[in-house]
Amino acid sequence: MKRIVFAVLLLLLVKIYSYADEGMWLPIFLKQLNEKEMRAAGMKLRAEDIYSINKGSLKDAVLHFGGGCTGEVVSPKGLLLTNHHCGYGQIQKHSTLEHNYIRDGFWAKNMSEELPCEGLTVTFISRIEDVSTQVLLGVNDKMTESERQSVIDQNIAKVSKSLVIQAYEAVSIKPFFTGNQYFAIISVTYKDVRMVGAPPESIGKYGSDTDNWVWPRHTGDFSVFRIYAGKNNLPADYSPDNVPYVPKHYFPISLDGVKENDFTMIFGFPGRTDEYLPGIGVQQATEVLNPVRISLREKALKIMDAKMRTNPATKIKYASKYASIANAWKKWIGESLGVKKTDGLGRKMKYEADFTKRINADPALNQKYGQLLPEFEKKYSEYKRYAVAREAIAEVFSRILDFTRMGNQAIQLIKAFDSQGETEYSKQATKARDGLAGFYKNFEADIDKEMFVELILIYKANVESGLQPATITKLSKEQFASMFDSSNLINEAKMNTILALPATEAVKLLREDALVALLKEVYEFNQNSISPKANTYSAEINTLQRTYMQAQMEVFKEKKFYPDANSTLRVSYGKVKPYSPKDGIKYDIMTTIDGVIEKYVPGDYEFNLDQHYLDLYAKKDYGRYGVNGTLPVCFIGANHTTGGNSGSPAIDAKGNLIGINFDRVWEGTMSDVNYDASICRNIMVDIRYVLWVIDKYAGAGHLIDEMKIVGKSK
Ligand code: ARG
Ligand code: ASP
Repeated sequence: MKRIVFAVLLLLLVKIYSYADEGMWLPIFLKQLNEKEMRAAGMKLRAEDIYSINKGSLKDAVLHFGGGCTGEVVSPKGLLLTNHHCGYGQIQKHSTLEHNYIRDGFWAKNMSEELPCEGLTVTFISRIEDVSTQVLLGVNDKMTESERQSVIDQNIAKVSKSLVIQAYEAVSIKPFFTGNQYFAIISVTYKDVRMVGAPPESIGKYGSDTDNWVWPRHTGDFSVFRIYAGKNNLPADYSPDNVPYVPKHYFPISLDGVKENDFTMIFGFPGRTDEYLPGIGVQQATEVLNPVRISLREKALKIMDAKMRTNPATKIKYASKYASIANAWKKWIGESLGVKKTDGLGRKMKYEADFTKRINADPALNQKYGQLLPEFEKKYSEYKRYAVAREAIAEVFSRILDFTRMGNQAIQLIKAFDSQGETEYSKQATKARDGLAGFYKNFEADIDKEMFVELILIYKANVESGLQPATITKLSKEQFASMFDSSNLINEAKMNTILALPATEAVKLLREDALVALLKEVYEFNQNSISPKANTYSAEINTLQRTYMQAQMEVFKEKKFYPDANSTLRVSYGKVKPYSPKDGIKYDIMTTIDGVIEKYVPGDYEFNLDQHYLDLYAKKDYGRYGVNGTLPVCFIGANHTTGGNSGSPAIDAKGNLIGINFDRVWEGTMSDVNYDASICRNIMVDIRYVLWVIDKYAGAGHLIDEMKIVGKSK
């Protein structure tokens, strides 16, 4: 008997604990929803310490970096840390042949050497307010979608005006829980952000695409920036007179590191998740759409890779494109595999069976929600063919092929000529001509041609013939190849000549171009025959999803719900935990510099290291950052994160910074649609590696002096 009680208790505990790992929680509800659980998991802070509008709290040191990543303030002088891959665009922009900061890294020796980054902003959150009641005032179930939206828009306008904010603050009111709730986000954006330091790519991007989404990982994925403000500490446009921003809070840094089961928290701006879809929705994403996207990208990557391997110049041209195509490709493969491995669909089915059982037991609920799941089945299955057709066009013609960008420009020019006449055309043509060199710099016609003819074949095999533009259905591979060769779009010199011609002649040539004509046909077909249907179905599914979200919250009253990610500030928490990717394998929680060296391939573009690094390794000079004769590099935790969480602070039980989040493990990337605590892990670079690189490798100890180092190993 005792044993049974114990087993039940254990089961309950496992359930509570595995539950704790899932969730991207709203900071304003931590007190009500999470504080107790967080403290039980080891946290020493109070919810007030994480988010407060009355005093400085952790949230005041967390920022949205450039709109897509997260960063954290680590000094009283506005110094911030984010990922190398988040700062990459800036590092690249400041790089020249003489100053190749991507290859060699960059370190400002003092503030006057810090590099202004035009267009880069960081945003802090002043406060978040629940405005659901006001925004949904007057909305009812009988309204059409557009009636509903127009009431909501009017309410949002009213609420925005009524909120008391400072002149330097902005308000944005966003839907949460698929439009069942609305929150006002009051924020402050700083516009003078300067680049302070970045390790060379061989550290910051170590392992590149091969190691991307993979554990064990050895990437020093960080870069350093500084926020500047006007003399009053308020946002100001760039000026040499601006001064370092004084934050309300900055993270102390702990050198104590982590061990298994330590509490960790990630505080940042996750971009998008879809955790509350019905099974059929997850199935469509992972079994129907992902395979199409994956097969298209796989082909494209193979073609690029083959050429990049034989020609170093090609490698440079295509590195960034390859990385971005590969990033999502690899994630989708991991996602589909992960859903399968963890029986994500089976779990959804069980959940739905439970849902159905509960509503069947309650006539009022049944009346409201009884038709939801069958409706989803119906709509998703009708939507499927259009979803595939739309996604395949987007992948091939907007995301993968390159000539299409030049083709779009040609179409715009023809349009300008037809609707606004010669003067407008000439204005645009001059601009387009100026942009040619920039475009062709990273364009190789033979690569794009091979991708074009091969991807079209995959496209044809995946999209129903009735949903393909006629020309695509009709032509053969050889015909596509000669269509490509005949086009002027693929040739810089020819485009240059054409754009210098008088308007009528130029437009005639552009119009006659076979690739331009094909693109026009594709876009028009998409607009007339795919989009209207696809949009109608996706809008209907969205309405169902809103109701389903509401239904889940009503039916599973005992469950705590967090809203899907929507690029707003969230807290995720969990523990440092190993995992098993496959039967018979268990992955450890931490990697070290010894593993960096194990992966080293001299001269390789993904796993190269420089002599200085190797020398430091040979001396084992880890200073106060080392532990047990080695240097920690990365660690994993069961914190629920997604794209946008890159650069987020990894925080210990006391609110100290212990790492920077930058990725997830491949087997767990399905956390965006179906979190599973057994296998979903986020990857963080250990702060001790970051500080070692800054201090010992780069000799930028003056930056460390600005920081507050705490813990017993300080
Ligand atoms: N997978 C990470 C994320 O989604 C890192 C991507 C950058 N690194 C790369 N090798 N492409 O952003
Ligand atoms: N690497 C992602 C980012 O850049 C994080 C993730 O998807 O886990 O935000």
